[in-house]
Formats: sequence, structure tokens, C-alpha cells
Amino acid sequence: MNNNLTVVSNNLVLRDITYLRDKNTPHRDFRTALDRIAYSLCIAMSDHIKMREVEIETPLELTRGKKFASPIVLVPILRAGLSMANAFLELLPQAKMGHIGIKRNEETLEPIDYYYKTPKELEHSLVIILDPMLATGGSVSSAIKILKGNGAKHIVIAAIISSPEGVQRILNDHSDVSIYTANLDRGLNEKGYIVPGLGDAGDRVFGTL
Ligand code: PRP
Ligand code: URA
Repeated sequence: MNNNLTVVSNNLVLRDITYLRDKNTPHRDFRTALDRIAYSLCIAMSDHIKMREVEIETPLELTRGKKFASPIVLVPILRAGLSMANAFLELLPQAKMGHIGIKRNEETLEPIDYYYKTPKELEHSLVIILDPMLATGGSVSSAIKILKGNGAKHIVIAAIISSPEGVQRILNDHSDVSIYTANLDRGLNEKGYIVPGLGDAGDRVFGTL
């Protein structure tokens, strides 16, 4: 669709998306499949991490290696974004974590933000937004606006499933932000749900159906 979008696909992801889509998948299996996809997204987006060269000593000699050059801040969008936090924290254990609470109004589909707490040093950090569903894009666009207002300059989105409408919204509102997703679905239905999608991600992760 554009250079800001990377669709991360491999056979593990394809298998796990099929579990997520299946309405008969119980929440325990839904959670673990989503967790596994989040690992693939994190590995793919690690290309965005600026590296610096360091000198290290092996037991045999001096050599050169790489370390992360900037701090990393993970920001799951409550609630459903929490389901991606485990994989990202496992692979990026030095990351700090902020939280933004945003809830879609189910009638208007407009995002309502209700909670904000992030580490202070956003300006020099790679800020990774975690949200499984990029539907209209309203929630993530609003989160980006808030993060930029608090100093963030380098923001990347990790979403399990995205709609073309959501990707376009981010491109229009925040053309400097890259999106990593495991699938670009067909579109949105009249209620703003991604189709074919997986339903309400938060309800399926937390068993609140
Ligand atoms: C879901 C999802 C996104 C948002 C996507 O959250 O996790 O945050 O909807 O929709 P959008 O792109 O149209 O804004 P929801 O509002 O259902 O809240 P929840 O995570 O608390 O269930
Ligand atoms: N939020 C969800 O959880 N699922 C969708 O399909 C759209 C928004």
C-alpha cells in the first residue's frame, strides 16, 4: 500500500491468524496465538532500532559488536494492547513501558482517552505502540497525537490485523509513523469492525464476551 506499511508474514503467523479468526478458539488459545504473532512483529520491527558499535572482549580477543543506541518505550493501548506486551518485553527486556487507555465509542466510533502514563524520556526513545486492531485508526491516531504532544519523535505501530482504512488514516494523520502488521484485511463493516477480522480483540483476549 505504501512504504510506511510492512506486512509481516511467515507460516507461523499464517497458522496463528487462522486460530485468531476462528470464533471457536477459546480465549486461552487465542491469547497464546496472539502472543506468538507479536514475537514475529517485534523481530521484524527491530530494524527500526538504531544501533551503535561497541568494543567487547571475548575470552580470546577484542572484537566489535552492536548495542541499541536509543531507549525503547512500549505503549500498549488499553485494554487489548496488553495482550502484545509479553512478547515485546521478552525480546526487549530493557524497554520501559507506558500505558494509554483509549476506548472506542461503539456508536460514533470516536476514541475516548481515559488514562495516560508514560516514562519521561520519550523524545530520544523509539516508542512502539501495541494494539492488535487498527480498524478506523482513530484510537491509534489519537494515541500518537498524545505521545507526540509529550515529546515522542520516533513512533512505530505494531498491530496484529489492520484495515486499509486504518492504514490510510495513519498515513494521513501521521505520515512519519511506520506500521507493522500481520495482515491487511479487506475492510470495515457498518459497525466499524475489521472484516473478516477476529471480532472484538479485547473481549476475546480477556474472556469478556
Ligand atoms: C479496540 C482495539 C483498538 C480499537 C481499534 O479497542 O483494541 O484500540 O478498538 O478501533 P479503531 O481503530 O476504530 O479506533 P476497544 O475500543 O474495543 O477497547 P478495549 O481494548 O478496551 O476492548
Ligand atoms: N476493535 C476490535 O477489537 N475489533 C475490530 O474489528 C475493530 C475494533
